Amino acid sequence: MSTPEHVEGRAYDAPPPPSPGVPRASVELSLAPHAAPQHDEDGPDQQAGEIGPTGRALRFTPDPVPVAQHGPAKILAVCNQKGGVGKTTSTINLGASLAEYGRKVLLVDFDPQGALSVGLGIHPHQLDNTIYNVIMERAVGVQDVIMETGVEDMHLLPSNIDLSAAEIQLVSEVGREHTLVRTLRPVIDQYDYVLVDCQPSLGLLTVNALAAADGVLIPLECEFFSLRGVALLIDTIEKVRERLNPKLDITGILATMYDPRTLHSREVMARVVEAFGDIVFDTVINRTVRFPETTVAGEPITKWAPRSAGAKAYRALAREVIAR
Ligand SMILES: Nc1ncnc2c1ncn2[C@@H]1O[C@H](COP(=O)(O)OP(=O)(O)O)[C@@H](O)[C@H]1O
Ligand SMILES: [Mg+2]
Repeated sequence: MSTPEHVEGRAYDAPPPPSPGVPRASVELSLAPHAAPQHDEDGPDQQAGEIGPTGRALRFTPDPVPVAQHGPAKILAVCNQKGGVGKTTSTINLGASLAEYGRKVLLVDFDPQGALSVGLGIHPHQLDNTIYNVIMERAVGVQDVIMETGVEDMHLLPSNIDLSAAEIQLVSEVGREHTLVRTLRPVIDQYDYVLVDCQPSLGLLTVNALAAADGVLIPLECEFFSLRGVALLIDTIEKVRERLNPKLDITGILATMYDPRTLHSREVMARVVEAFGDIVFDTVINRTVRFPETTVAGEPITKWAPRSAGAKAYRALAREVIAR
């Protein structure tokens, strides 16, 4: 006979499995956003000429001049095949900062995980139409699917898990790499920037983003292994430039999740600057819990903690992007 500790191989004090027919209390997995932080840390303002976190003197970036007319948009693909490097966070916060500078911005969620949509407080699985329907159904126009966000002049083309089917369905299509550019064409004149949040792979969706883009913005986590994948990414960008999209350029490499207190972060930063030189943005995004908080709050850091160092950093990035 087995002792009570070994009944059905369970640990002695493990809870019994739910008996069939007895409803279990559903588990509330969502987090309620806290009130906006009280101690909204006021990050330092850095001046041109000062030595920045990249170890170089900060280049002068002028304050963006207001635009009188909008469009045609510059399309930027936010791309890195590694997950969790800050693509989605950078798309939302760069977009919101560009909008603060009076630019009209369209964010394109091009990841079936829909994290960009979630980060803007939208539940993408509840949407009837997403970018998937625009791509696959002639009757659905891109204007019908674009949504407003909590940020004025920043719109969203949402996605959800349906988009993962598009990747498979597109394989047999003629001109499959140019699907996104065709999708965006009707609205391109209405925006100044279109930011495409790519999925963490170099598959067909990402190739579509690269084929549509004028520039690529590469977020790079300040961590040793993150350097390894970049060579492959740059190789892919070069192939797309040669075969599909001659105008494609690398707009810049953005160091993210930087922790100035660790030697490791500083060493990786030095390697990145050594390897990629001037295309590394002067702006560096520090690691801070503010960013995960903004996802829960469903808004960009520029609204959630407008005076925080993180908000200031993305505004500085927007100034660099406008100047490039
Ligand atoms: N600078 C940062 N500091 C701390 N956490 C961050 C930072 N940037 C992003 N995060 C968090 O890291 C996770 C991954 O970021 P995300 O932008 O979703 O990456 P990706 O889109 O590349 O997968 C998210 O939980 C996000 O809130
Ligand atoms: Mg993402």
